[in-house]
Amino acid sequence: MYTLKRHVFLIGFMGSGKSTRGKRMAKMLGVEFIDLDDIFVEENGMSIQAFFKEYGEEEFRKKEKEILQKQHLVTPSVIATGGGTPCYADNMKWMIDNGITIYLKLPNKLLAQRLFDSKHHKRPLVDGKPLEEILRIVDEKMNTRSAYYEQAHFHTNSLEHNEDSLIDYLFAADVIKE
Ligand code: S3P
Repeated sequence: MYTLKRHVFLIGFMGSGKSTRGKRMAKMLGVEFIDLDDIFVEENGMSIQAFFKEYGEEEFRKKEKEILQKQHLVTPSVIATGGGTPCYADNMKWMIDNGITIYLKLPNKLLAQRLFDSKHHKRPLVDGKPLEEILRIVDEKMNTRSAYYEQAHFHTNSLEHNEDSLIDYLFAADVIKE
Protein backbone atom coordinates (compact mmCIF):
# COMPACT_ATOMS: atom_id res chain seq x y z
CA MET A 1 0.00 0.00 0.00
CA TYR A 2 1.32 3.46 -0.87
CA THR A 3 0.72 6.93 0.53
CA LEU A 4 0.17 9.57 -2.10
CA LYS A 5 1.42 12.98 -0.96
CA ARG A 6 -0.07 15.12 -3.73
CA HIS A 7 -2.64 14.75 -6.47
CA VAL A 8 -1.58 13.07 -9.71
CA PHE A 9 -3.23 14.90 -12.62
CA LEU A 10 -3.45 13.04 -15.93
CA ILE A 11 -3.64 15.44 -18.83
CA GLY A 12 -3.81 15.03 -22.60
CA PHE A 13 -6.09 15.25 -25.59
CA MET A 14 -9.48 13.52 -25.74
CA GLY A 15 -8.91 9.85 -26.45
CA SER A 16 -5.39 9.70 -25.00
CA GLY A 17 -6.44 7.17 -22.35
CA LYS A 18 -6.61 9.38 -19.25
CA SER A 19 -9.56 7.57 -17.67
CA THR A 20 -8.43 4.04 -18.49
CA ARG A 21 -4.88 4.57 -17.32
CA GLY A 22 -5.98 6.70 -14.36
CA LYS A 23 -8.22 3.91 -13.04
CA ARG A 24 -5.40 1.42 -13.40
CA MET A 25 -2.89 3.67 -11.62
CA ALA A 26 -5.28 4.49 -8.78
CA LYS A 27 -5.91 0.80 -8.24
CA MET A 28 -2.20 0.01 -8.17
CA LEU A 29 -1.58 2.83 -5.69
CA GLY A 30 -4.63 1.98 -3.58
CA VAL A 31 -6.00 5.54 -3.84
CA GLU A 32 -9.19 7.07 -5.15
CA PHE A 33 -9.68 7.75 -8.85
CA ILE A 34 -11.48 10.97 -9.78
CA ASP A 35 -12.72 11.84 -13.27
CA LEU A 36 -13.50 15.54 -13.61
CA ASP A 37 -15.90 14.92 -16.52
CA ASP A 38 -17.91 12.53 -14.32
CA ILE A 39 -18.10 15.11 -11.52
CA PHE A 40 -19.30 17.65 -14.07
CA VAL A 41 -22.10 15.35 -15.20
CA GLU A 42 -23.13 14.53 -11.61
CA GLU A 43 -23.12 18.15 -10.47
CA ASN A 44 -25.03 19.46 -13.44
CA GLY A 45 -27.43 16.58 -13.88
CA MET A 46 -26.84 16.40 -17.64
CA SER A 47 -24.29 15.11 -20.13
CA ILE A 48 -21.46 17.39 -21.26
CA GLN A 49 -22.95 17.22 -24.72
CA ALA A 50 -26.33 18.47 -23.48
CA PHE A 51 -24.62 21.17 -21.42
CA PHE A 52 -22.65 22.44 -24.45
CA LYS A 53 -25.88 22.60 -26.45
CA GLU A 54 -27.81 24.46 -23.80
CA TYR A 55 -25.20 26.79 -22.25
CA GLY A 56 -22.20 26.77 -24.61
CA GLU A 57 -18.52 26.01 -24.19
CA GLU A 58 -17.61 29.17 -22.25
CA GLU A 59 -19.99 28.29 -19.42
CA PHE A 60 -18.62 24.74 -19.46
CA ARG A 61 -15.06 26.06 -19.02
CA LYS A 62 -16.08 28.20 -16.02
CA LYS A 63 -17.66 25.23 -14.26
CA GLU A 64 -14.81 22.94 -15.26
CA LYS A 65 -12.34 25.33 -13.60
CA GLU A 66 -14.43 25.43 -10.41
CA ILE A 67 -14.60 21.64 -10.28
CA LEU A 68 -10.84 21.31 -10.84
CA GLN A 69 -9.82 23.87 -8.28
CA LYS A 70 -12.17 22.46 -5.63
CA GLN A 71 -10.01 19.34 -5.63
CA HIS A 72 -7.58 20.92 -3.16
CA LEU A 73 -10.15 19.93 -0.51
CA VAL A 74 -9.86 16.27 -1.41
CA THR A 75 -7.35 13.62 -0.20
CA PRO A 76 -4.54 13.15 -2.76
CA SER A 77 -5.95 11.07 -5.63
CA VAL A 78 -5.35 10.17 -9.26
CA ILE A 79 -7.36 12.72 -11.25
CA ALA A 80 -8.26 12.44 -14.95
CA THR A 81 -8.89 15.89 -16.41
CA GLY A 82 -10.86 16.75 -19.56
CA GLY A 83 -8.84 17.28 -22.74
CA GLY A 84 -9.34 21.05 -22.56
CA THR A 85 -8.91 21.49 -18.80
CA PRO A 86 -5.20 22.49 -18.78
CA CYS A 87 -5.71 24.98 -21.63
CA TYR A 88 -8.16 27.38 -20.01
CA ALA A 89 -7.81 30.05 -17.31
CA ASP A 90 -4.93 29.34 -14.92
CA ASN A 91 -5.72 25.61 -14.70
CA MET A 92 -2.34 24.31 -15.85
CA LYS A 93 -0.43 26.47 -13.39
CA TRP A 94 -2.89 25.49 -10.66
CA MET A 95 -2.29 21.78 -11.31
CA ILE A 96 1.49 22.25 -11.37
CA ASP A 97 1.27 24.06 -8.03
CA ASN A 98 -1.12 21.53 -6.48
CA GLY A 99 0.17 18.18 -7.64
CA ILE A 100 2.17 16.33 -10.21
CA THR A 101 1.10 16.50 -13.85
CA ILE A 102 1.47 13.63 -16.33
CA TYR A 103 0.95 14.20 -20.03
CA LEU A 104 -0.32 11.18 -21.97
CA LYS A 105 1.00 12.00 -25.41
CA LEU A 106 -0.16 10.26 -28.58
CA PRO A 107 0.32 11.20 -32.26
CA ASN A 108 -2.56 13.25 -33.71
CA LYS A 109 -3.44 10.59 -36.29
CA LEU A 110 -3.80 7.93 -33.62
CA LEU A 111 -5.88 10.25 -31.44
CA ALA A 112 -8.22 10.96 -34.35
CA GLN A 113 -8.59 7.26 -35.07
CA ARG A 114 -9.28 6.44 -31.42
CA LEU A 115 -11.89 9.21 -31.22
CA PHE A 116 -13.53 8.02 -34.43
CA ASP A 117 -13.66 4.45 -33.10
CA SER A 118 -14.99 5.33 -29.64
CA LYS A 119 -18.42 6.42 -30.74
CA HIS A 120 -20.04 5.57 -27.43
CA HIS A 121 -18.23 8.45 -25.69
CA LYS A 122 -20.22 11.64 -25.72
CA ARG A 123 -17.75 14.25 -26.90
CA PRO A 124 -19.43 17.34 -28.31
CA LEU A 125 -16.31 18.60 -30.10
CA VAL A 126 -15.94 15.54 -32.35
CA ASP A 127 -19.17 13.55 -32.16
CA GLY A 128 -20.62 12.17 -35.38
CA LYS A 129 -17.87 13.66 -37.55
CA PRO A 130 -15.97 11.78 -40.28
CA LEU A 131 -12.38 10.71 -39.59
CA GLU A 132 -10.79 13.41 -41.80
CA GLU A 133 -12.78 16.12 -40.03
CA ILE A 134 -11.76 14.75 -36.61
CA LEU A 135 -8.10 14.76 -37.68
CA ARG A 136 -8.44 18.38 -38.79
CA ILE A 137 -9.94 19.29 -35.39
CA VAL A 138 -7.18 17.43 -33.51
CA ASP A 139 -4.45 19.16 -35.58
CA GLU A 140 -6.02 22.57 -35.09
CA LYS A 141 -6.59 22.22 -31.35
CA MET A 142 -3.16 20.69 -30.79
CA ASN A 143 -1.61 23.82 -32.32
CA THR A 144 -2.69 25.80 -29.29
CA ARG A 145 -3.10 23.08 -26.68
CA SER A 146 0.29 21.41 -26.92
CA ALA A 147 1.99 24.46 -25.33
CA TYR A 148 -0.06 23.75 -22.19
CA TYR A 149 0.28 19.98 -22.25
CA GLU A 150 4.05 20.25 -22.72
CA GLN A 151 4.38 22.06 -19.38
CA ALA A 152 3.55 18.82 -17.55
CA HIS A 153 6.13 17.46 -15.10
CA PHE A 154 6.27 14.09 -16.87
CA HIS A 155 5.46 13.04 -20.42
CA THR A 156 4.58 9.52 -21.46
CA ASN A 157 3.65 7.92 -24.71
CA SER A 158 0.51 6.16 -23.49
CA LEU A 159 1.13 3.13 -25.59
CA GLU A 160 4.76 2.61 -24.58
CA HIS A 161 5.04 3.40 -20.87
CA ASN A 162 3.41 0.94 -18.57
CA GLU A 163 2.00 1.87 -15.17
CA ASP A 164 5.06 0.52 -13.34
CA SER A 165 7.31 3.11 -14.93
CA LEU A 166 4.87 5.85 -13.96
CA ILE A 167 4.91 4.62 -10.40
CA ASP A 168 8.74 4.58 -10.44
CA TYR A 169 8.60 8.16 -11.58
CA LEU A 170 6.23 9.11 -8.74
CA PHE A 171 8.67 7.57 -6.24
CA ALA A 172 11.58 9.47 -7.76
CA ALA A 173 9.57 12.69 -7.66
CA ASP A 174 8.77 12.02 -3.97
CA VAL A 175 5.04 11.99 -4.63
CA ILE A 176 4.47 8.55 -3.15
CA LYS A 177 5.98 6.61 -0.29
CA GLU A 178 5.42 3.06 0.92
C1 S3P B 1 -13.04 18.21 -24.00
C2 S3P B 1 -12.71 16.94 -23.58
C3 S3P B 1 -13.67 16.07 -22.87
C4 S3P B 1 -14.70 16.91 -22.10
C5 S3P B 1 -15.34 17.90 -23.04
C6 S3P B 1 -14.34 18.85 -23.70
C7 S3P B 1 -12.01 19.01 -24.74
O1 S3P B 1 -12.98 15.24 -21.94
O2 S3P B 1 -14.13 17.57 -21.01
O3 S3P B 1 -16.05 17.18 -23.99
O4 S3P B 1 -12.18 20.22 -24.86
O5 S3P B 1 -11.00 18.41 -25.18
P1 S3P B 1 -12.10 13.93 -22.37
O6 S3P B 1 -10.73 14.41 -22.74
O7 S3P B 1 -12.09 13.12 -21.12
O8 S3P B 1 -12.83 13.28 -23.49
